[in-house]
Amino acid sequence: MYSDKVIDHFSNPRNVGEIENPSGVGTVGNAKCGDIMRMYLDIDDDGVIREAKFKTFGCGAAIATSSMATELVKGKTVQEALEVTNKAVMEALDGLPPVKVHCSLLAEEAIHAALWDYAKKNGIVIEGLQEPVEDIEESAEYDKM
Ligand code: FES
Repeated sequence: MYSDKVIDHFSNPRNVGEIENPSGVGTVGNAKCGDIMRMYLDIDDDGVIREAKFKTFGCGAAIATSSMATELVKGKTVQEALEVTNKAVMEALDGLPPVKVHCSLLAEEAIHAALWDYAKKNGIVIEGLQEPVEDIEESAEYDKM
């Protein structure tokens, strides 16, 4: 049912924890399943993500997707980080079962929420970034694989 990569990132998640004084932090949840994800980003003066950490109170797929999402955004510019969609995270994990697709959306929205916080704190606009939703079930459509 789950790929080896999903099992690996669930059993041995990367970048778990918090960043003190993060450049941006965002929390999103899914009211339906009750899972919550918080993403911390450390972004340097060139707009490059140096560090990403997460805390997820959620299912195994949410933990695996948060872990992969933090790995994917590290070293990217804030603009490039927008390309780390839930589909990109799922692809990097070699797929997720259809009932678990929404878990990957939590990871995408957590990145967006942290970027939104960073942009707000610095008075900048990140092109293409929309205000994140707190509850992903309220967001209209998302990529399915
Ligand atoms: Fe809700 Fe996975 S079941 S995030």
